[in-house]
Amino acid sequence: ALKIAVLASGSGSNLQSIIDAVERGSLKADIRLVLCNRSDAYALERAKNAGIPTTTILHADYKSRETFDAAMIEQLQAADVDLVVLAGFMRILTPLFIQTFAGRIINIHPALLPSFKGAHGITDAVKYGVTLAGCTVHFVDEIMDNGAIIAQAVVPFTSEEPVEVVQNRVLKLEHRIYPQVLQWISTGRVTLNGRKVFVQDIGLPKVP
Ligand code: GAR
Repeated sequence: ALKIAVLASGSGSNLQSIIDAVERGSLKADIRLVLCNRSDAYALERAKNAGIPTTTILHADYKSRETFDAAMIEQLQAADVDLVVLAGFMRILTPLFIQTFAGRIINIHPALLPSFKGAHGITDAVKYGVTLAGCTVHFVDEIMDNGAIIAQAVVPFTSEEPVEVVQNRVLKLEHRIYPQVLQWISTGRVTLNGRKVFVQDIGLPKVP
């Protein structure tokens, strides 16, 4: 099974979707570690409830991003993971971290990249006035929200709907596509070639 670590800062609903997929048997992955940078992250409870080892590394305890990242690298290497899965992890990673796990870090972002990068993808999209919301799973490179795109999903909304409704709708989409992408990776179907990602047998409906 694919050995993964999940990094989260908050609620951990994406972590939960991965745990559920493993428990359902639709994803063969060994979640070896859940790492959080906040002690109040509900993701920690979700991991504990599922019997997954957790580590809390508080970024505030470190003088620099580099020393914080070095502490995370140590834990991730000790956990011997194939893939680092960012799931609502709200810290910018240093080049050292990215290089250490080059091509082996993925992230989910609550917008259709390259639009609405950053920490407020959904509110930025709603404020802009787009009519389709969505999410993106991508490889992580040294530039924030810039790495090669593996999968995207979209959902419509109207201007009358409150942002919370859009947020929920996007989150539900995230919970479908993140475990799906992990399943592709775990079965060796995802190849990264520069900015291009090839997914074997992706099974899209035939379009003219
Ligand atoms: C998700 O919507 C995720 O896409 C977003 O944070 C939320 C975490 O929810 N990530 C980012 O904005 C990264 N820039 P969760 O903790 O319930 O999985």
